[in-house]
Parts: sequence; structure tokens; C-alpha cells
Amino acid sequence: MADQTAEFVVVANRLPVDLEKLPDGTQRWKRSPGGLVTALEPMLRSREGAWVGWPGLADAEAEPFVEDGLTLHPVMLTARDVEDYYEGFSNGTLWPLYHDVVAPPAFHRHWWQAYVRVNKRFAEAVAEVAAPGATVWIQDYQLQLLPAELRALRPDLRIGFFLHIPFPPTELYQQLPWRKEIVEGLLGADLVGFHTPGGVRNFRWLATRFTGAKPGARNEVTYEGRTVKLGAFPISIDSAHLDRLSRSPEVQQRAKEIREDLGNPERVILGVDRLDYTKGIDVRLRAFEELLAEERAGDAVMIQLATPSRERVEHYQTMRNGIEQSVGRINGTFARVGHPVLHYLHQSLPRDELAAFFVAADVMLVTPLRDGMNLVAKEYVACRHDLGGVLVLSEFAGAAIELKDSVLVNPHDTDGVKNALYGALTMPAADARKRMRSMRRQVLSHDVDRWARSFLDALGLPPT
Ligand code: ADP
Ligand code: G6P
Repeated sequence: MADQTAEFVVVANRLPVDLEKLPDGTQRWKRSPGGLVTALEPMLRSREGAWVGWPGLADAEAEPFVEDGLTLHPVMLTARDVEDYYEGFSNGTLWPLYHDVVAPPAFHRHWWQAYVRVNKRFAEAVAEVAAPGATVWIQDYQLQLLPAELRALRPDLRIGFFLHIPFPPTELYQQLPWRKEIVEGLLGADLVGFHTPGGVRNFRWLATRFTGAKPGARNEVTYEGRTVKLGAFPISIDSAHLDRLSRSPEVQQRAKEIREDLGNPERVILGVDRLDYTKGIDVRLRAFEELLAEERAGDAVMIQLATPSRERVEHYQTMRNGIEQSVGRINGTFARVGHPVLHYLHQSLPRDELAAFFVAADVMLVTPLRDGMNLVAKEYVACRHDLGGVLVLSEFAGAAIELKDSVLVNPHDTDGVKNALYGALTMPAADARKRMRSMRRQVLSHDVDRWARSFLDALGLPPT
């Protein structure tokens, strides 16, 4: 089975599952972290396509295998590739640069060389997996050279690219020593998708400034005799599935237990993120700490769930230390024996457990300094069929464009976040219900299927 070619291929840096080595030397597969996998997995399973990606472990040579109708094709990365391409260029250069340089990006030539090398390796792997005339959908910032590399090997393919993170303002993008090469890489696609119209505008300007691309019709450029379409496609979640899951008696019961375990406080505040410096976890801890100090938090208890992420990258280590110090200080100052005011779990939880936390939370704090979309905000809304709960959301998350009835905050404004949190904790139920009803209308009608369909329609792929 696994050696057949596929008509529809998704390529991402990671496979939807990670290979894990257990202490006894055996291996097992577990779900990969992050929004990209959350968004794409349900769509792809229903298409019976192939997924090409890295199994998340250095030097792991795994054979292709079929899981739930989806063929997974592992691409091997050496320890050096992981250091220079993944931790280095992808997450030490591009990630901070594309997130408005909220941490300083580092520019190293050997990181760039590894990025080129690994993108070429992905191109060779996809060229083998894709059937003649197949559609290939490339995902995210780790693989921006792949569209052009793949086109050079396989001009017969229909190639789409979607960027899951923000595309930065042109002034910031221009810092990149390899700005021209990356734009040229992306122009190898037939369609390049972003979350927002701002991303489309920035890319279009750069393409005409740094390459031979010429502006075409609206949202198009012509490049090397081809038309490259550009478009904004705000990603979403499997809203109906989460809605169903959150209504289940098991999840409802578990939500009650969570509140009981916390000592049945009047208000539960929740944060859920990958442990990433773009997410503004420090911002919300500061706001909560100040509210406690001002005795305005009532008997609220806060929970911060943080999935371990990119733990060998320096900015991540610094941030983790800072957050863990704050957690200790806040509990040290405000907790009583047996009653912490802040619960911090540096763990990844199963989906049903996560849904129970969403159901249990009165206030959801989503405060990134910059975020392409932020699926957590949409997941919270999808889980609140009871119309309970208040979402506090950063203006700098892509989701803010759609979730206008959240309590919008500027995460750089500590007083603003603190007052928004206080407002959310004390919001009259009727006001909260009205806001939640309107946000649910948006999230339930704009799900991940609709996102994928609109991208693939624009790419010209007939529906299944
Ligand atoms: P990013 O893509 O930057 O990680 P998103 O908010 O778009 O951010 O997506 C994060 C995904 O990871 C969501 O589906 C969220 O539910 C999931 N997630 C985040 N933290 C946890 C956790 N502690 N346990 C389980 N899943 C988590
Ligand atoms: C974000 C990125 C994804 C990435 C995920 C997890 O969602 O957009 O491309 O896969 O974070 O990060 P990781 O570095 O663990 O793959």
C-alpha cells in the first residue's frame, strides 16, 4: 500500500504523529503538537491522501505506513539538520522574524545552507510520492523553498502553499539576507495562501520588488510565464466535533471534577498554549498577579496549560525559566496551604481532557503578542454550547478579525489586560451570553472543512 503514489499530498515539516523513543528502547507514535496538525488532520483523513513530513526525532529512519486511510511518508533529518534547519533557521530565524521580531532573530549562513538542503530533500521525497498530475499542498514556514524546488523536479504537479504564521510587515521581512530566495521559492506555487489580506499585500509587494514578478489581476502576479494566485484563507477548527465532544456526559462530568479539585472557586481562569514566547503567557500572569495584589481577583483560580515546545532553542529556555519563576512567586505570595491560586501544567493533554478544561473555565485568556490565527480561541468558543464563559483575546492574533465579540486587548498594555480580565471576571451573564452566541455563530459556520475547501477550490482541485 505505502509504496503507491497519491493524487493528493500534504507536505509539512512534521507528520501528524511523532515517533517517540521510550526508556526501554521501544518506539511509539504520538500526536504532534500545534495548530497545523489540529487543523489539517481531520480534512486529510477524509481524503485518503498522503502526508510527507519529519517524524520529530533526529536520525529516525521509518518506513512509510498507513494509518486510518492516510499514508504517512517519513522524511529523515539528521541531528545536524535538526539543529541547523529546524531549531536554527526555522525557529531561530524565521519564527521570530515573522512574529514581528518579538524576540531577536539570528541570521547564520550555515543555518540557511541547512534550510536549502532540507527543502531539497523534501522535494525529492514528494516527487516520488506524488502521482502524475497530482495536487500537492505544502504547509508553513519551514518549507518555503519547496514550491520552486518541487516545480523544477515535477512541472506536472499542481502546487499550493499555505503559511500558518503571520507574513511580516515588509520592513521587517527585508532584514532577511535571503529574502529574494524565499520569495522565489514561494512563487514556485500556483497558489500562495495567508491568513489575512495584510499577508497577501505584503507578499505581493515583496514579490514585485525583489523578483521579476509583475502585478497581474487582483490577487495575482505573473512570474516566469505563469500566473501565481495569492489569497487570504483564515484557518479554523473541526468545530462540530469539538461541540459534540464538549456536550458529552463524560466531558461535562470531568469539567465538574476539575472545578471541585480546584476547591469550587467562583471563577476559573484558563490559558492553553504551546510554551512559546509569542503567546504572551507572561503578560497574563502579570495581569493576574496585579489583580491579586489589588485584591480585585475575588477567589479566582488560574490554570495555565503549556505544551512543551522547541525546548533546545535558547529563547524558549529563557522564557520557560521566567514563567516558572513567576508561577512560584505568585503562589508563594497569594496561595494558602492546599489552595494554590495558580496551577501550571507543563504537559500536553488529550483532546477530551482539554475540552473539559474549556468547559470548566469562566474566563479564557488568549494574549499572544503576535499569532497567525490562534486555534485555542476558536476551540474555547466551540466548547461553550452553554453560552457561558468570556474570551479575552489579543488584537494581534489573526482570530481577532473574526471574533470581534471577544474582549479584545492590546497585550503590550498591562493595565489594559488587567482591566479586561477584571471586566471578564465580573461581566453580567446576559452580556457574556450575547457575545458567546455571536462568536459561536462565526466559529460553527466557518470550520476547517470550509477553510480547506476554499483553498483547494482556489487551487482548482475538484471536490471529492
Ligand atoms: P500554535 O499553532 O502556535 O501552537 P494554535 O493555538 O493555533 O497555536 O494551536 C495550538 C493547538 O495545540 C490547539 O489545537 C490546542 O488545543 C493545542 N494545545 C495547546 N496546548 C495544549 C496542551 N497543553 N495540551 C493539549 N493540546 C494543546
Ligand atoms: C505552529 C506552526 C507549525 C508547527 C507547530 C508546532 O503551529 O505553525 O508549523 O508544527 O507550531 O511546532 P513544532 O516546532 O513542534 O513543529
